Amino acid sequence: MAAPPPPGTPGDLDPVRLDRLARRHLWLHFSRLGTFGEDHPVPVLARGEGCWVEDVTGHRLLDGLSGLFTVQVGHGRPELAAAAAQQAGTLEYFPIWSHAHPPAIELAARIAALAPGDLDRVFFTSGGSEAVESAWKLARAYFRATGQPNRHKVIARRTAYHGTSLGALAVTGIPAMRQPFEPLTPGAVHVPNTNRFRHPLEHDEHAFMLAVTDAIEEAILFEGPDTVAAVFLEPLQNAGGCFVPPAGYFARVREICDRYGVLLVSDEVICAFGRLGHMFGAQRYDYLPDMITCAKGLTSGYSPLGAVICRDFLAAPFLEGTASFAHGITFGGHPVSCAVALANLDLFEREAVLGNVRAQEAAFEARLRTLADLPIVGDLRGAGFFWALELVKDPETREPFTRPEGEAVLRGFLAPRLWELGVIARTDDRGHPVVQLAPPLVARPEELDVLCERVGVALAEASRTFVGSAVGATRT
Ligand SMILES: Cc1ncc(COP(=O)(O)O)c(C=O)c1O
Repeated sequence: MAAPPPPGTPGDLDPVRLDRLARRHLWLHFSRLGTFGEDHPVPVLARGEGCWVEDVTGHRLLDGLSGLFTVQVGHGRPELAAAAAQQAGTLEYFPIWSHAHPPAIELAARIAALAPGDLDRVFFTSGGSEAVESAWKLARAYFRATGQPNRHKVIARRTAYHGTSLGALAVTGIPAMRQPFEPLTPGAVHVPNTNRFRHPLEHDEHAFMLAVTDAIEEAILFEGPDTVAAVFLEPLQNAGGCFVPPAGYFARVREICDRYGVLLVSDEVICAFGRLGHMFGAQRYDYLPDMITCAKGLTSGYSPLGAVICRDFLAAPFLEGTASFAHGITFGGHPVSCAVALANLDLFEREAVLGNVRAQEAAFEARLRTLADLPIVGDLRGAGFFWALELVKDPETREPFTRPEGEAVLRGFLAPRLWELGVIARTDDRGHPVVQLAPPLVARPEELDVLCERVGVALAEASRTFVGSAVGATRT
C-alpha cells in the first residue's frame, strides 16, 4: 500500500482516496459495511465549527445530533484544543493508579461541587460503557464489603441502551444487540420503560407512573430483594426515542429502592452536562441517585472521558486499612481529557450554556410541534435539547411501520435525504422508528429553525411517500 501523504498536504483529504481506504481498512461501529461501495461512499467528516460540520467534499451540514449527544459547546472551540495542547505539553499521561495528577484532582472536586447531595466521590473511566460496567462492579463490591454478598443483580428497562461491554450490554435492554453475544453477564433483568405512546394508561399519567414503578418493585420482589444490587435508569431514556418519565416517577423509584436497600444508578451518559437544561438529569427530575454514570458531554467530545460519581457511603468501605476497589482502567482520568473537561466546564459557566437550553426549550418544542402535525409523525417527546419524533404509518390509528417498512422509511429514504438536505439527525429503530434531535447546547434560535425546517422538509416528503391516505397535506 502506498504511504499516505503527510497530514496537511493537499492530497490527504482527497475524497476518493479516503473512501477507498475507509472501505478497505476502517471498521465502522454499528455499521453495515456491505452497504458502502463505489456508488455509495463512506461519509467522511473533515471539520466543524459551532453547530456546523463539513465533509471532505465540502458539503456543509447542521449537526442536529452533537456528534453523538456529545459536542455540547459546539465544534471547533479553540479553548478546548488549547487546553488539550497545554496539558499534553505539561504531563501528557500518567495513570491514576496509586498516584494523582492536578487535572484529575481538580476535575473530581469540580464535579463533586456540581453534583447534587453527597455525590462527592468520582471514579474516572474512559467512556460510558466503562462507567456503567464500573458502577455495576462497584455496587457488587460495596455489598460484598458490607456483608451482603448475594446482592449482585441489576434491574434496568426494556429498550434502554447502557453500552456494549459484556456487563454493560447485560444492562442494555435491546434484544437485537444482546442476542448475538449471549451468554452475557448473568443477573440483569428488565422492566417496562416509560413509553406512554399507545400504552393503555397513556392518558392517565399518575396511573401510568404507578404501573411502571410497581413493575420495578415487583421485579425486586420476584428476584429476591437480598439479591438485587442496583436499578439502572436514564433520567430520560434515549433508545426507543426520548421516553420522558411521568410525574412522580423518580420520587417513587427512590422510595422503592430505599425500601429494599437497592442502589439507584442514574445513567446520564447522554442526559448529564446540560442536555436537559441542568448539569445533571437527576436535577431536572429532582431525585438523588446513589451513583451517576456519565461521559460524552463531560469533555464535549474533545477528548474521551467517563465517570462514576458516587455518594460518600459507597466509597466508605474502601477508605480504611488495606481495602481497595479492585478495578481500574489505563486511560481512566487521562490528564489531557481531565484538562479538556475543566476547560469545557469553564465554557459552560462563561457562556451560560445551561441557560441557553432553558431559554430556548419552549420555542424549540413549539417549532417541533409544527412537525408533529405531519401525517407521518405520531408522537413528539423529549425535554431540553433532546427530542424524538416517532413515525407512524397511519396518523389516525397510529399504526406503526413494520420492520421492513421502517427500514425503507429510515435507511432507504430519510437518512440519505437528511444528509442531502444538509442536516444530521438520528434515524433509529431500536424501538419503533424515530427521528431524534439533540443539537449542540450553544445552538441559537436561527440554527434551531434551520434544523426544524430541514427535518420538516424530509418528513413532509416521507409523509407523501409512505403515508398512503394522507398525500401531501398536514393533518386537519
Ligand atoms: C445511556 C448510555 N449509557 C451508556 C452508553 C455507552 O457509552 P459509550 O458509547 O461511551 O461506551 C451510552 C452511549 O450512547 C448511553 O447512551
